[in-house]
Amino acid sequence: MTRWPDRRILDLFGIELPIIQAPMAGATTVDMVVATARAGGLGSLPSAQLTAEGLRKALSEIRAAVKAPINVNFFSHILPPDDPAAQTRWRALLAPYYLEAGLDPAATVAGAGRAPFDAAFCEVVEEYRPEVVSFHFGLPDKALVRHVKGTGAKILSSATTVAEAVWLEANGVDAVVAMGFEAGGHRGNFLTNDMTTQVGTMALVPQVVDAVSVPVIAAGGIADGRGVAASLMLGASAVQVGTAYLFCPEAKIPIVHTNALAQAKDDSTAITNVFTGRPARGVVNRLMREIGPLSEAVPAFPTAGGALAPIRTAAEAAERDDFTNLWAGQAANLASWIGAEALTRELCRTALEVIEHRRPV
Ligand SMILES: Cc1cc2nc3c(=O)[nH]c(=O)nc-3n(C[C@H](O)[C@H](O)[C@H](O)COP(=O)(O)O)c2cc1C
Repeated sequence: MTRWPDRRILDLFGIELPIIQAPMAGATTVDMVVATARAGGLGSLPSAQLTAEGLRKALSEIRAAVKAPINVNFFSHILPPDDPAAQTRWRALLAPYYLEAGLDPAATVAGAGRAPFDAAFCEVVEEYRPEVVSFHFGLPDKALVRHVKGTGAKILSSATTVAEAVWLEANGVDAVVAMGFEAGGHRGNFLTNDMTTQVGTMALVPQVVDAVSVPVIAAGGIADGRGVAASLMLGASAVQVGTAYLFCPEAKIPIVHTNALAQAKDDSTAITNVFTGRPARGVVNRLMREIGPLSEAVPAFPTAGGALAPIRTAAEAAERDDFTNLWAGQAANLASWIGAEALTRELCRTALEVIEHRRPV
């Protein structure tokens, strides 16, 4: 029994509620995915900070805990060639922070930290056959996409402009995530690098709906039932909610991140590339203020994080958020401290109240 006006995503994925718990690398847990799935939404497991073995383990746990469709998410960037000169410049810029923390700026640090979709991940997808596979930063190469489709999975990817949505449809996605500028975490942009012209959710969603024939999932700045209802009114068939799930006990984030979310207001976040080399939205902190928020001195994604790790660890040990990526969207202040299962249901209950005019907007 449902009162949802648009069933396209519900029927495509086999879910009951038009809520996709956003994949959030470094924050989403197995428990979050399971709780969302239990409520009838689509739980999404991010893989960018997992190995293929780690992904296998997480999927075994999820499949054992719940019988419901799930989404597995991957980044589809191309790893950059080694660039020692860029790393040296970056380390030199960070050296004062090392010295301040009593650390040796010349110490070797582990690199990378965000893995792209590859053959090893593809094998795990073929083994566990998640019902939905989503990508961020475009799509991986065509042969890998064919393998994923061969498992029967529905494919999604994020678009930050109409041109990206049209490109994704032409390249075979089953639905598009229209990711507005309000969204927390890495921007999904892949045809443009211009952050000054990125589009807000309110303008992006209806223009993407008009431009593609696949169903559209709205993302960015949706944190309560009003946002869900508004997105559906704009023509979205479902929503993808990220930041609001960071307030759930199932989220695994550093305490400094939780504290920053608790304080976040509408204007607390900015787009920055200083943590990874790619633009992402997070709560403004010391590194963003002093080096960014956008800087040409940052090495290519995803190689910036390695050199930050020691000063980040030292700061977090002192409960300071100076060097931690505090990913959050512009609607953090609308979120509540409730569990993921309750949040999924509550987003729908209150959205339906708005849609059916039982609640003033
Ligand atoms: C902490 C965090 C981590 C994220 N990591 C990923 C990721 O691994 N893959 C991905 O496709 N999107 C990622 N995103 C983007 C979300 O999937 C989603 O599009 C976004 O959170 C929606 O906007 P909102 O935060 O305003 O709800 C992340 C967002 C956040 C806040």
